Amino acid sequence: MRLLHFLLVTLVAAEDGLDGWLRYAPLDLGHKHVSFPTSIVALNSSKDSPVYTAGLELQKGFKGILSQNLKISHDGRPTSSAIIVGTVAEYSKTSNKPLNAPKLKEDGFWLSTHGNTVTILGQNERGALYGAFEYLSRLAQGDLSPATYATSPDAPIRWVNHWDNLNGTGTHGSVERGYGGDSIFYKDNVIYQDLSRVTDYARLLASIRINGVVINNVNADPAFLTDKYLEGVARIASHFRPYGVKVGLSLNFASPQLIGGLNTFDPLDPSVVEWWRTTTNKVYKYVPDMAGYLVKANSEGQPGPLTYNRTLLDGANMFAKAAKPHGGIVMFRAFVYDSVNLKESDWKADRANAAVDHFKQFDGQFDDNVVVQIKYGPIDFQVREPASPLFANIPKTNVAIELQVTQEYLGQQCHLVYLPPLWNTILDFDLRVDNKKTLVRDVLSGERFKRNLGGYVAVSNVGVNSTWLGSHLAMSNLYAYGRMAWEPTVDVKATLDDWTRLTFGLDKSVINTINKMSMQSWPAYEQYTGNLGIQTLTDILYAHYGPNPPSQDDNPWGQWTRADADSIGMDRTVWNGTGFAGQYPTEVARRYERIETTPDDLLLWFHHVPYTHRLHSGKTVIQHFYDEHYKGAETAHSFLAMWKSLKGKIDKQRYEEVLFRLVYQAGHSIVWRDAINNFYHNKSGIADKSKRVGNHPWRIEAESMTLKGYAPIAVNPFFTASGFKGIVTTSNAPGTATTKVNFPSGTYDLAVGYYDIIRGKANWKVYINDKLLGAWDGDNEDKLGHWPSEFLDGHSATRITFDGVKIKKGDTIKIVGTPNGPELAPVDYIVLLPKGIID
Ligand code: GCU
Repeated sequence: MRLLHFLLVTLVAAEDGLDGWLRYAPLDLGHKHVSFPTSIVALNSSKDSPVYTAGLELQKGFKGILSQNLKISHDGRPTSSAIIVGTVAEYSKTSNKPLNAPKLKEDGFWLSTHGNTVTILGQNERGALYGAFEYLSRLAQGDLSPATYATSPDAPIRWVNHWDNLNGTGTHGSVERGYGGDSIFYKDNVIYQDLSRVTDYARLLASIRINGVVINNVNADPAFLTDKYLEGVARIASHFRPYGVKVGLSLNFASPQLIGGLNTFDPLDPSVVEWWRTTTNKVYKYVPDMAGYLVKANSEGQPGPLTYNRTLLDGANMFAKAAKPHGGIVMFRAFVYDSVNLKESDWKADRANAAVDHFKQFDGQFDDNVVVQIKYGPIDFQVREPASPLFANIPKTNVAIELQVTQEYLGQQCHLVYLPPLWNTILDFDLRVDNKKTLVRDVLSGERFKRNLGGYVAVSNVGVNSTWLGSHLAMSNLYAYGRMAWEPTVDVKATLDDWTRLTFGLDKSVINTINKMSMQSWPAYEQYTGNLGIQTLTDILYAHYGPNPPSQDDNPWGQWTRADADSIGMDRTVWNGTGFAGQYPTEVARRYERIETTPDDLLLWFHHVPYTHRLHSGKTVIQHFYDEHYKGAETAHSFLAMWKSLKGKIDKQRYEEVLFRLVYQAGHSIVWRDAINNFYHNKSGIADKSKRVGNHPWRIEAESMTLKGYAPIAVNPFFTASGFKGIVTTSNAPGTATTKVNFPSGTYDLAVGYYDIIRGKANWKVYINDKLLGAWDGDNEDKLGHWPSEFLDGHSATRITFDGVKIKKGDTIKIVGTPNGPELAPVDYIVLLPKGIID
């Protein structure tokens, strides 16, 4: 009976990703005889209390995992053979058993599980809910061992931020830098009436112990502060409340003028101060337990106090005073820099200096409910950055780190990139303040500088896609973020395994394979994109996605590489450069000041060197670039075989969806590899020692084929096309490109490099000797979710592969491209890959 039920559930369960890691899949107990609790006692009967939620969640978990229906009571005396969940205080009232739990910090919990007797006690209600999720996580992972332990969070602030817009006019879709579909909160300027997705999300967040969520974009719409929207904000808060997640709002600094009818937003003007006070009182009427505010001021065009020659301190403390009576906190972002007047011609100019320049002077003067929210690196969520020196420079100020779960510069969820190892390079970094151990994580916990408030924030940007982030595998980042915010020393590999067991089941080969792929993914992404601390080489003026290294330079955004014909990198030394290295405490500053002591992976972050400069590894910079790009693309290809080995061990829907992305990633890793290598090869004129760059013996360039209704086109940027050219149809009629194969007869993987742009769905067909091999549409914009492109470039460049195609010398390959709208069925090349060749 159990087996039948197991099979049925497995077959019918829609594995679309919506439940994330909270699937509560049936557990196969085999022949084990285990006694489980038979009822639930939840020590609170109020429906929006987290303890009440914990009761329901336990019930749901037991039903899914063990097919048992447990009754919940709220007032009954705790009995044996029950799960008791509640706060320590409540438990002490009802139980006559003394409790030997250690002291818990806010949100902490104590869990004791011994067969049919389970006690889950939280320091507060939220902690009790976390304990319930913890117990269910153990069960779902098949861990039935008895245990008694307590755990408390490392830091009180464990938030996510959402860059959601009301009106959907964000840079792309309604979530700025969101790749999992539109907002779960808003559509067409209206807050959803049906907020069931918010409840689902709250559940996921609570299970990873996130206690705050800011629900609107930092580039903030002031309308959120009007009654019209506050009503909806209150509804959103009521969906998060039962899960212990408090809601916060991003503020627009100019609100008093934009919606308040004042002619100023000067933070020292009494009418402005009064406006924020009364507005905040109103906000708290709607949401009495609001977490607080998030403020992006004087950054990237956002208004702020500098407009009135006031200071950032004036701005932050103005909000702090308004929020204080309500217990609210103000997350004030340190992401303040000048993106208009910065000049690359000035060797000493440096955006990286901005945060310390702006904030250090105010250390010790921020109100105690202000937390300065600092991006992990000095620039902007790059694949490799040093830890922001601001963490070392404001010891008398509360601080939180800002991470990105959404992969803005890191493949936009179309590339598998497991981020926790990257985050650890920052959290584990020792800043050596006063020559003493100063790990970033100990600054965040408050431990190092004895602060009470601080912690973690991640820009999560989930969307309405059933996978939340647009990709099943990307969810490991959200899961691990929560776990790390609670306990930053957690083992990121073990955490990943927990996630995999909960998400895909207990099969060891599944767990090991996903672990292997994920742990290799960030290093691989760094290898095939930007190395040695050069920062992102994505197109920063457009999609932040595909390769475009020249977009970094000659503009005021300050993400410069300073690449010229001979040399590359930012000189951030004190003796000859921007002085940034000197913002670190002495020991660290000294290390970064000298090339000899700077680690290779940050070399170009701190130094400007010739391409022929030898790294500690002994390689030249340029050869390192070439080699790494080849290695990284190879690794991305190896993910395919790894994933395919799991066929049949993962439900079809998720298997296929992940496979689609991995195939895409492998193809796009070649786009990256070739673009970057071609660009620097062209710039430096230095050949690749292994003669791979610019040399593709198995490719047939589309422009060299016999064309009918197709014509060659020079692609811009040139390095995003093989041979720098592609072909497009000359009218809205189909075009054909034909070639005779001159390679030895054999079995090849046949790949077609092409471009898939937005606002058109061209169709391609490929024939071998007039026999159709395959056909596909240009519909990646519907399937992938990355920022799409209107042009033939590094964002739209993609490829499709047909495995194991038998080809004879002299065969004819024909591509028929049918254009659609602006998508003129563009093709870059065909490649016939003998076994083992990746190109
Ligand atoms: C990045 C990102 C923007 C965002 C900004 C911020 O620059 O591209 O979309 O608004 O960071 O963090 O404020």
